[in-house]
Amino acid sequence: MSVSAAASSTLNQFSPEVDEHFYRDLVVSMRNGVLAIDRNGTLVVANDVACRILGLASDDQHLGRHYTDVLGPRHEFGQVLSSAFALSHLPNRSELRLRPSGKVIGFTLSRVMNQFDAPTGAVLFFKDLTRVEQLEERERLRDRLAAIGEMAAAIAHEVKNPLAGIQVMAGLLKRRLPETDDDQSVLNDIIGEARVANKIVVDLLEFVRPINLQIERVSVPDVLRDAVDKYEGQTSSGDVIVKTAVPEDLPSVPEDHTQLRQIFTNLLINASEALDGPGQVTIAARHMTSDDDMAAAGDAQDTCGWVVIDVEDDGPGMSLDVREKIFSPFFTTKPRGSGLGLAIVRKIVDAHDARIDVRTRHEGGTHFQVTLRVTPELDATSASTSMQETLDAVGRGVG
Ligand SMILES: Nc1ncnc2c1ncn2[C@@H]1O[C@H](COP(=O)(O)OP(=O)(O)O)[C@@H](O)[C@H]1O
Ligand SMILES: [Mg+2]
Repeated sequence: MSVSAAASSTLNQFSPEVDEHFYRDLVVSMRNGVLAIDRNGTLVVANDVACRILGLASDDQHLGRHYTDVLGPRHEFGQVLSSAFALSHLPNRSELRLRPSGKVIGFTLSRVMNQFDAPTGAVLFFKDLTRVEQLEERERLRDRLAAIGEMAAAIAHEVKNPLAGIQVMAGLLKRRLPETDDDQSVLNDIIGEARVANKIVVDLLEFVRPINLQIERVSVPDVLRDAVDKYEGQTSSGDVIVKTAVPEDLPSVPEDHTQLRQIFTNLLINASEALDGPGQVTIAARHMTSDDDMAAAGDAQDTCGWVVIDVEDDGPGMSLDVREKIFSPFFTTKPRGSGLGLAIVRKIVDAHDARIDVRTRHEGGTHFQVTLRVTPELDATSASTSMQETLDAVGRGVG
């Protein structure tokens, strides 16, 4: 492009009526993150959305400093910005993952050209796609479930009976042998292994069984109390202290009591297994009436807010690699795990049109957050219709 053509097209695109403030306001008001540097790498623009996504304070203290000072030396955005003046083709609608937060970012990088067609800076437009990714992952999980569900259920049914046979016959043999016989320990091993295999089969059947939700107005404090009782009945670890901070006056939610309880029992069991000894798990619940992120994700309609339940443990936490896979069926890091506890949790959460998030706590340990939608009491029927649709999707082809 010739100099005069570039200059005239620049003039053509901007009305002389608006002053410089307008352009400033335009950038600040954008719903995308905007980060711009000049030719020397000095940060010259960082709008509020950019600061929010990057966890920077929303003031101008970052401006005028080199982007590596502001973002840190090995920041993923730093690598993108550093390529702005070197690459012939700049990334367009690309994605990257920010560490350690794990946020998925969609971005486009542009060079800022002056009227003489010379680069004077670079600008990064970006958006937090984490929520979109989660929804896509949910879709993929549903598809996978539909495909493996029927087969897995059939195999599990077939395996259950011979397994019970092995347990019973090994028990009989054990009783026939004298207590002192060396083979007693072999038989104990057989019985132990069969029990583990049986637990996997039971979990598997639970996982593939279509959920038949019994929707009612459920009291969250009651569900959480029941979940703690059930967990305590199932675990032998007396070293783990479970603390609850659950106000009694939380609004009721349109859910299935038993299914909801299963979510929290599974989370508690995992927390206690992660602790593997003395430690603490806290369950806290609160009513939330507005949240920018959720409103932005289009979740704000038809709700009277959300009940948010946090389950936190002070165990070892998990690496980003593990965190990405925990909801996948059969993913486990335990020698005797079934890898189905959280897959079942995810299935129930999806069926309730709820949401689950997980993060590693700064102070160590894991934090699961379950968000339940509170609807007006009168909306119970329409709520259950949309849940039935979700269920149809989850249970598709699952026998
Ligand atoms: N509270 C927790 N702390 C650390 N890791 C966890 C926690 N909860 C789940 N995990 C990880 O997620 C994996 C999957 O959990 P789950 O689906 O319940 O299967 P399983 O408990 O049979 O391994 C676990 O093996 C573990 O690595
Ligand atoms: Mg588990």
